[in-house]
Amino acid sequence: MPGVLPYRQDLSRAAVITESAGFERALAAAGDGLAALRRARDDGRLPLLTLPEARGDLAMIEARAAHHREHADDVVILGTGGSSLGGQALYALADSGFGPSGNAPRLRFLDNIDSHTFDHMFRSLDLARTDFLVISKSGGTAETLLQCLICLEALVDAVGRENAASHVTVIVEPGSNPLRHLAEAWGITVIDHDPGIGGRYAALTSVGLLPAVIAGLNPAALREGAQQVLHLSLNTAIGLDTSEPALGAALNTAPGARWSAVLAVYADRLAPFAMWFRQLWAESLGKDGQGTLPAPALGAVDQHSQLQLWLDGPDDKLFTVVTAETVGHGRIVSSELVEDDRLAWLAGRSMGDLLDAEARATIETLAECGRPVRQLHLERIDETTAGALMMHFMLETILAAHVLGVDPFDQPAVERSKVLARAYLAAMDRH
Ligand code: PA5
Repeated sequence: MPGVLPYRQDLSRAAVITESAGFERALAAAGDGLAALRRARDDGRLPLLTLPEARGDLAMIEARAAHHREHADDVVILGTGGSSLGGQALYALADSGFGPSGNAPRLRFLDNIDSHTFDHMFRSLDLARTDFLVISKSGGTAETLLQCLICLEALVDAVGRENAASHVTVIVEPGSNPLRHLAEAWGITVIDHDPGIGGRYAALTSVGLLPAVIAGLNPAALREGAQQVLHLSLNTAIGLDTSEPALGAALNTAPGARWSAVLAVYADRLAPFAMWFRQLWAESLGKDGQGTLPAPALGAVDQHSQLQLWLDGPDDKLFTVVTAETVGHGRIVSSELVEDDRLAWLAGRSMGDLLDAEARATIETLAECGRPVRQLHLERIDETTAGALMMHFMLETILAAHVLGVDPFDQPAVERSKVLARAYLAAMDRH
């Protein structure tokens, strides 16, 4: 097991937090959290911590992905929250907006219930060449069930009742639940959602890996990256200060830490990752009056949108800036095109050069303004790094919850709104 991570965490510009006495106390509490995680891994209570070393399920995932790659030009993923965002984050590694490479189908994640979007999809896609992944851990989420029923009906219209099931895969936990019953009644292939891994922690299970493999990504490399982070955090022979997630958890929870957690990613391919982080952080920590507001951002775009506020607005934000090696990447501006002296500074520069310069300038300017900044620098953006980053933030979130004294795995407050929505729907006239 290599002892080096595919990213580097730099806290040197967050000294306003890390040099406080409160930081040491928070780090010690995060260390207690690590010990609790180690025990949970050893007695098998937290399957998330043994998942990265598992390879036994990958053949099944690859076989089902091969079916959809063969069968479809478009694959629509139905599901919401943790059943969608991890897949979206991984898919972005294969498709930054112009379709995946090779012969992979184009994936579309529909996580909302906006009828305009669905009507447009039904008009735009050839359903005879469209497959659906329906993902819900509980099998009882209203949005996903309604999406599924509407898509099944559209499929029947397009390909007939007898052919519809071959267009669909359902991922749902075992036991009696409406989605599982529906799938069984229709003869749809079902993959078991691990009941021990909650929605927002499920990106490296079939929930995220089936979409990823359909798009042509390497699932073993994703798990390998996650395993590297786990190893450096949970190996008892290794000290607390080598656990990058524990340091991150302390940074976010020390007294004097900030009210917002900005995650600014300097790569289009990581923009959905920042949205995945937002849900993980908000739903896991926002309890009992605790938690901080996660704020995803995209560099360099947000320099023209939010940077003014970051630099000169309230000093209530902790900045995490994710950068990758980009120097020399992309096309280079030809000096022959640059006749105007005012453009001369761009001659011989690549797009990656400018992105690197802008990311560094943002980090330095924030630091000069006294804003706490952490940098996570990636050697490259690939499956290993994505798996590592996902495990980093899952552990950081769980450890932050430990320091704050909240349960990172539940979301009790949202239940009331679900009950009310059902009551309002029941009170409406049927069409
Ligand atoms: O992270 C979570 O647990 C939630 O965000 C769920 O993923 C979301 O509510 C969807 O639930 P389900 O997968 O049961 O449909």
